[in-house]
Amino acid sequence: MPSLHDATRGRILFGGDYNPEQWPEEVWADDVRLMKEAGVNSVTVGVFSWAMIEPRPGVREFGWLDRLMDLLHSHGMGVVLATPTSSPPPWMGALHPETLPRADDGTVVGYGSRQHFCPSSPVYRGYAKALTEDLAARYADHPALTVWHINNEYCTHCWCDESAAHFRRWLAARYGGIEALNSAWGTAFWSQRYDNWAEVLPPRRAQYLRNPAQELDFKRFTSDALMECYTAERDIVARHTPHIPVTTNFMPLWAGQDAWAWAGQEDIVSVDVYPDPSDPRAGQYNAMIADMTRSQAGGPWMLMEQAAGAVNWRPVNHPKPAGLNRLLSLQSVARGADALCYFQWRQSRQGAEKFHSGMLSHAGENGRVFREVKRIGAELSLIGARVTGSGVPADAVVLHDWDAWWSSTQDGRPSSLVSYTELLQAWHGGLWDGGISADFARPDADLSAYRMVLVPQLQLLKDAAVDNLVSYVRGGGTLVCGFFTGVVDEDDRVRAGGMDSRLRELFGIRTVHEWWPLDAGATVECDGFSGTLWSEEIEADEQAETVAAYTGGELDGLPAVLRKGTAYYVSTLPAPEALRALLGRVAAGAGVRPVLEDLPSGVEAVRRGELLFLLNHGGSRTTVTLRGSHLDLLTGDVADGAVELGRHGVAVLEEVPA
Ligand code: GAL
Ligand code: ZN
Repeated sequence: MPSLHDATRGRILFGGDYNPEQWPEEVWADDVRLMKEAGVNSVTVGVFSWAMIEPRPGVREFGWLDRLMDLLHSHGMGVVLATPTSSPPPWMGALHPETLPRADDGTVVGYGSRQHFCPSSPVYRGYAKALTEDLAARYADHPALTVWHINNEYCTHCWCDESAAHFRRWLAARYGGIEALNSAWGTAFWSQRYDNWAEVLPPRRAQYLRNPAQELDFKRFTSDALMECYTAERDIVARHTPHIPVTTNFMPLWAGQDAWAWAGQEDIVSVDVYPDPSDPRAGQYNAMIADMTRSQAGGPWMLMEQAAGAVNWRPVNHPKPAGLNRLLSLQSVARGADALCYFQWRQSRQGAEKFHSGMLSHAGENGRVFREVKRIGAELSLIGARVTGSGVPADAVVLHDWDAWWSSTQDGRPSSLVSYTELLQAWHGGLWDGGISADFARPDADLSAYRMVLVPQLQLLKDAAVDNLVSYVRGGGTLVCGFFTGVVDEDDRVRAGGMDSRLRELFGIRTVHEWWPLDAGATVECDGFSGTLWSEEIEADEQAETVAAYTGGELDGLPAVLRKGTAYYVSTLPAPEALRALLGRVAAGAGVRPVLEDLPSGVEAVRRGELLFLLNHGGSRTTVTLRGSHLDLLTGDVADGAVELGRHGVAVLEEVPA
């Protein structure tokens, strides 16, 4: 199987999306000159080129792409070649309106933007496959080709009749008979019983709350339907070029694709990461996405897109202050990225993204943004051979699961203020604040390599996952579990007693009497800290120890944090500092240490392979004390005992033997 290693060969891939079809060919020459100057070695081409390559149905215009591929190759650039199937040309929608997706209220989603295709449409799939076939045949032997990039950020949903028929086929394969579907969906409720398959529909717009199990299955189905589109194209390119790795770029924390399942179908796992430069937690967010993607990849991963400056899709789009692009870029490398790419190379002058930054911004080659890009390119070439292929050691792992996420986003739950992704970020953030490196894993994964397992919240847990957690703890592992976990089974049916009995036994919970969600901004006092968002009226059994109790209020004296052996249950969301402290204490007990002790606030330390990365997110200059001498690979300086980090500063250190 080809891998990212086949594309990197000891260098970090550096570059970005390149859309030269938006520019006259004279500009291309300037582009390659500046790419070389910036240390770019990889460009992603073709992502939105369908209408250029196939201007009319069945026509092929590859001449411009031939010239482009040759030009890039002659300047030493590798090409990540995209199948342009995420944005069908207008002719397809005009000629075949059934290829256009329909919203849940039946509205047609028109062309004129992008991603306007029904994943279940055989007509769309037919055109996409035919074009992929010809593209793959044409460039299979092109020396510039390094990676296949299938489609772009698969994210469409469709409720049309074709999708409905496809959904029924998917359900029939899952359940066999209609009575099994009725049982799984709990259709005895509100007279929803189906008498035959023809009556079954996707969860379309309805009078009141929709069936949550039907919605859960539709999310599973949609992820699978999109994956069929992906694997169809992947199989075509893989047949032409078995030695070239294939990827499709994920959106981070995107509910629409079960990334664990998708990652298993890719040679390279890649992701697009856009932390908000004005968010004081941007560094933590970037770290979390890196950890998640590395875990999905099972090793080095590809950062397919990031922004050199501002994006164009937030209400207010802040640029990156000087140094932040470099800091976040090197942070991604520290956390396992072997490829660091941007959207996009040259900022567009027309279209919806003309105010989205590029590596080469409107300010041009003398602009500050491009200067920083050149610096990053030069620095990556200094460390590439030392980092590529190497791992990021972690003793802690955060569990993350799409079924649980989907089940927790439905209407009609105890609190709509609870956000799965915010909990994930809060818990990962507690580790990050404490300097502890973490991986992510699915709840049924082999956890034996970790000393500590965190479950921020998994409302839905399958039996196998419950058994996995129980046997992990029985085997001596430390488990810290957040509230409202193990509440429903695979079909979204509430477990007897409101929480899986094996988990109740594990944590020492005799009874879950009531869930007590909190209002926005409200807190609940506990021994030594405040909780937010949620609380629970639970009764402990004799073997459980109350680590912290609620104080005052309706739950006075009841356990807020409960422990039985090495299994902890946290029935509220402790304020950030309290969560950091709690996780830090439990980690210490489990033998999980921070990468470095006593760091100045805002400084992150990460080990990758033999190197130690120090990253200053704190906003001002600071000094890190270290034992021994270290060579900074970026400056060539040797530091004895202490390393200075400027604002947004980074050091990549190698220990110098005494
Ligand atoms: C991504 C997309 C790119 C570009 C970018 C802007 O979602 O893949 O094509 O639109 O966002 O931030
Ligand atoms: Zn459809």
